[in-house]
Amino acid sequence: MKAIEIRNKYLKFFEKNGHKIIPSAPLIPENDSSVLFTTAGMQPLIMYLLGEKHPEGKRLTDFQKCLRTNDIDEVGDNRHLTYFEMLGNWSLGDYFKEESIKMSYDFLTKELQIPSEKISVTCFAGDEDCPRDETTANCWKKAGIPKERIYYYGKEDNWWIAGETGPCGPDTEMFYDTGKEACGPNCQPSCNCGKYVEIWNNVFMEFYRNNDGTYSKLKQHNVDTGMGLERITFLLEGKSDPFETELFKPVMDELKKLSKKDIIESRRIATEHLRASIMIAADGEKPSNIDRGYILRRLIRRMTRHMNKLEIDLNELTNLIELNINSLNELYPYLNDKKEQIKKIITEEKDKFIKTLSRGEKEFNKVIAKIKSEGKDTIDSKSIFKLYETYGFPPEVTKDLATENEMKVNMDEIQQLFKEHQNKSRAGSEQKFKGGLASSGEMETKYHTATHLLNAALKITVNKDCHQRGSNITSERMRFDFSCDHKLTPEEKKATEELVNKWIKEDLIVTNTEMKKEDAIKSGAECMFIERYPDIVKVYSIGDVSKEICGGPHVTRTSELGEFKIKKEEASSAGVRRIKAVLI
Ligand code: SER
Repeated sequence: MKAIEIRNKYLKFFEKNGHKIIPSAPLIPENDSSVLFTTAGMQPLIMYLLGEKHPEGKRLTDFQKCLRTNDIDEVGDNRHLTYFEMLGNWSLGDYFKEESIKMSYDFLTKELQIPSEKISVTCFAGDEDCPRDETTANCWKKAGIPKERIYYYGKEDNWWIAGETGPCGPDTEMFYDTGKEACGPNCQPSCNCGKYVEIWNNVFMEFYRNNDGTYSKLKQHNVDTGMGLERITFLLEGKSDPFETELFKPVMDELKKLSKKDIIESRRIATEHLRASIMIAADGEKPSNIDRGYILRRLIRRMTRHMNKLEIDLNELTNLIELNINSLNELYPYLNDKKEQIKKIITEEKDKFIKTLSRGEKEFNKVIAKIKSEGKDTIDSKSIFKLYETYGFPPEVTKDLATENEMKVNMDEIQQLFKEHQNKSRAGSEQKFKGGLASSGEMETKYHTATHLLNAALKITVNKDCHQRGSNITSERMRFDFSCDHKLTPEEKKATEELVNKWIKEDLIVTNTEMKKEDAIKSGAECMFIERYPDIVKVYSIGDVSKEICGGPHVTRTSELGEFKIKKEEASSAGVRRIKAVLI
């Protein structure tokens, strides 16, 4: 079965079962600055899992574009991917374990026609935070899975949370038996021998993990499920891994044709990173030295290096992008319209990198020769830093090259050096500063304070029920999403702008104090995701016009902001409007 058929079957099945199909959110999160990329289908839905009403109701389904870079160094084997698509269905305080399991079982056995004997499941074994999940096991038995194929594991395997804090809960995972021989008498779903492949994860999200590591009960019980499209596709197509499926094969084959060397790992890395780069570039990101842009840069650089290793003429890259976009056409037809933009972004970055690479590699070989002659096996961090400073040679490329030369590097030490010398953010993981601000330079700080003023102003000029739904700040502008049922009239926009500017002129003092979360709420402090905050929170006040729970930072007086100007007001999603504004 092709990926597109599986996706369509999935969405139709859940639609038939009362779910509304919602569109995939962009790979680049719109209203959540706590992550660099969308890493799971639940991410754009966090506020609804926490109790906010979703405009489409309590049962939702979608396919979500996701990117995870934690395992970027593992790409090249036959299973790790950075970009993947996740099929998901959600109950927002509606059905729970029994119905969720029944639907999953029916989908797998009836729609996908997977023989029941090929399915094993795992449940949460229980600990001091949450009891053993016998309910789930019983639901599986009722659905048709005998107890011999039901396994129990602890938090490491059967508990799901997106990061350190947030909505979470015990999960039940479904495994497909590939029919491979068991690796031993103890072979079971948790082992990595490849006999069992996880295909679906249903999380019973009824907890929230607080900053201090304790768990609170959420207002409602939710179900959050996720099925990786690439995996289920390769299994149903009877292939050995995703790179053998129609999702990757056209590019894999072309690389093989173009290359002078036969290195399957390099072909996989180049193929995987090319697809991920296309998806990121299509969603509007450009290579840069920070955050998301840096991840894109890293993916393109790694891809280029492996194409080099395969001895492929790098001028072929444009054709490869074309080929990849064509092969993704059924799943992501919109890529076609962005083809030129994508080609430009990726090839320009490749060109920049080639220059760096040829200079750096020579120097690298010298360093290696010296270290080997000294009988050592670790490249010292100072040499790596010098390679970067003098030749623009990125440390992770040095690390890759080092590994190929059976040398070690100490990435932690290098990161430390970089911090000291550069004070630049080179985020290698998706986790970002939790307080809401991506970086907090002078302008970002000003915009942050302006966000609070705008939030307060809208309640007066538009409607007291306008609440913040998200925000995104760069050093050049701010974006603010808020609940509102109508397009702002020119008068409302003008009044809002004027009120914010009036407060700026009044030179109000910005203060903050720490208090208990419930006291903050009682005192009328505004906040976006109450459950996301720790028990003791910081409350920022601006004169007596605004009071918000917030991690800061902020300016000390509003006069520092200059003049506030609304550039655009538009729809963001159902019942949510978006204002783009600048300080001049
Ligand atoms: N959030 C869960 C996961 O990513 C289920 O979708 O596995």
